[in-house]
Amino acid sequence: MRKKKWAKPYIEERTDTVIQAPETCKGRWREILGTKEVRLEIGAGKGSYWIGMGEKYPDTGWIALEKSPDAAAIGLKKCLTPGSNMKYIVGDAEGIDEWFAPGEVDVIHLNFSDPWPKKSHAKRRLTAEKFRKKYDVILKPDGLVILKTDNIGLYEYSLEKMNDLFDLIERDDDFRKTPHDEDVITEYEQEFMDKGQPIYRAVWRHKEKINEE
Ligand SMILES: C[S@@+](CC[C@H](N)C(=O)[O-])C[C@H]1O[C@@H](n2cnc3c(N)ncnc32)[C@H](O)[C@@H]1O
Repeated sequence: MRKKKWAKPYIEERTDTVIQAPETCKGRWREILGTKEVRLEIGAGKGSYWIGMGEKYPDTGWIALEKSPDAAAIGLKKCLTPGSNMKYIVGDAEGIDEWFAPGEVDVIHLNFSDPWPKKSHAKRRLTAEKFRKKYDVILKPDGLVILKTDNIGLYEYSLEKMNDLFDLIERDDDFRKTPHDEDVITEYEQEFMDKGQPIYRAVWRHKEKINEE
């Protein structure tokens, strides 16, 4: 994406929605969003999923996390009057365990995450061990990770690797073959659907911790 000079100043202006110091919200997200449920979308891109789901489910808290200020600013511009249940963090997923208290998140959404196909880049995938360990901390005991992707490589990698800390509870290898009005279509998803490509979707539940004492 081309650099946008206006992106960073615009993000700073949007104090209504952008959480500039997410570490100060740790343990208080339910109170801040005014909801019982907290959902975190990692890699929100230009924001269509966050906007669509936030408007469709106003009783649920929706936090978008995006590391590219340029993409984040486009999403924020599309959403001038977000509900009080919608907040935005511009930052890298590496920080999530500093911004969310243990067990504070109900659901993590990974929509069309970068596949990083080279083995040498595998650590950057959002289902790599480094990130799984952070999801294990911030997700509530029966919390969910929901992945949608067009990329068979990332899908198969995730199905194999997530097993250590999560149980696979749903899997659909052609999710958009049937209508799913409950779930908003993301920008990337629409592009792949237009090309006739299947959308892969998997849902994992946080594994119960065995008390080791
Ligand atoms: C392929 S795009 C998908 C965007 C959107 N979810 C969609 O489905 O249209 C992946 C996005 O994830 C973001 N991303 C990748 N790694 C990230 C990380 N570690 N932390 C936050 N965002 C990340 C990228 O900047 C990019 O905007």
